Amino acid sequence: MTPAQLRGARLFFTPAAGGAGGAGCFGCHSGPMLNKQPNDPDVAGIGTFVEENFFNVGIGDHPVQALNALARGRLDPTKLGNDNFPYHAEDIGRQEITHNPDGAFKFRALTMRQLKDGRTFFHNGSFTKVRDAVEYFNAGVPQDPTAGAAPTLSTRFTNPRGPGYPRGLGLSGQQVDDLADFLENALYDAAFVHHDPKSSTDTFQPNEHDLTYSKYHQDLAALGAKDGFMLSGLAIDDNDPLARRDEGLEFLNVTSQATITRLDGEHDGNAYRITNAGSSVIDTHLLVIVSGLPSDARLLNASGTTSGGDPYLRLFLRDGVLNPSDSVDVRLRIAGDEGGRHTFKLLSGQGNP
Ligand code: HEC
Repeated sequence: MTPAQLRGARLFFTPAAGGAGGAGCFGCHSGPMLNKQPNDPDVAGIGTFVEENFFNVGIGDHPVQALNALARGRLDPTKLGNDNFPYHAEDIGRQEITHNPDGAFKFRALTMRQLKDGRTFFHNGSFTKVRDAVEYFNAGVPQDPTAGAAPTLSTRFTNPRGPGYPRGLGLSGQQVDDLADFLENALYDAAFVHHDPKSSTDTFQPNEHDLTYSKYHQDLAALGAKDGFMLSGLAIDDNDPLARRDEGLEFLNVTSQATITRLDGEHDGNAYRITNAGSSVIDTHLLVIVSGLPSDARLLNASGTTSGGDPYLRLFLRDGVLNPSDSVDVRLRIAGDEGGRHTFKLLSGQGNP
């Protein structure tokens, strides 16, 4: 970091309260993505400790949206149902989701990373320069009169230095410059946008160097680390069921949800129709596994072989889904199973089963 960026970083991470002299930004912008409370134990942001990261910092609707609301509200009320007049278009933030007035005009604290690539800032997009956003916190004056009048307005925004101190942070122009420089240039990684193998900083995502153990970390490979997979065995990013299936870590058995019928009368007796007989979609890829084949029989058009040794065919579903009661036709070229002893197993997932 340059000396100016270091000064900006010091301001960002020094409290503002009680005349400590800092800008106190870390009070709402902490954690790996600089978007959480400093003591938030829920780093992944799932479930608990969600509400505490929402604040009313006085941001309202974009002027164009406000104009839209005005125009719609002024339409002839006789031409609209009573229910939708006057037209409501104001974004009241968290309250719109929770229906709890305690959430009025509260919005999620945003990440401070990669801001240099941003074209607009805050949820309404009304700021176009990082420095202007910093200056907004420095002044502590709500931009929007309605959000500013709501009881939820954060005093950590209007009076960050605490009782007895004037409104805002009282930073000099130079200090605002330093903070903006720190945000734009020190919290920016060019390699995150365009992969730069020579970058001195690590990307947020595990990269080829991290995950190709057989080449770069042979000690870990010797301990059983599998190339392309996290050491933990968990999915990269969100470790939710869909991510796990996308990354080939697990599969959903949909055999009982689908029916497979052989299409008689076709000139090729190997055509089958797979129908989603369940009430939920079958998504990602559909893997048709043929098991119970005699040892000399084969699936001639197999996409691969499962870890259990059975051949399978990978079907790419149109738009990635097979909706309830929809069907997909498939040709399975099985040779050498005259007794027809094979059975089908259907899995949903993207990896190799
Ligand atoms: C009381 C909590 C709080 C404090 C303190 C705080 N912020 Fe924020 N910050 C927020 C919230 C909430 C948002 C999002 C508001 C919205 O979208 O309407 C935000 C948004 C931003 C944005 C816009 C990011 C984007 O991508 O649009 C910037 C820049 C920013 N803050 C910088 C700072 C700086 C610099 C400081 C210290 C001077 C600071 N913040 C202090 C809560 C806070």
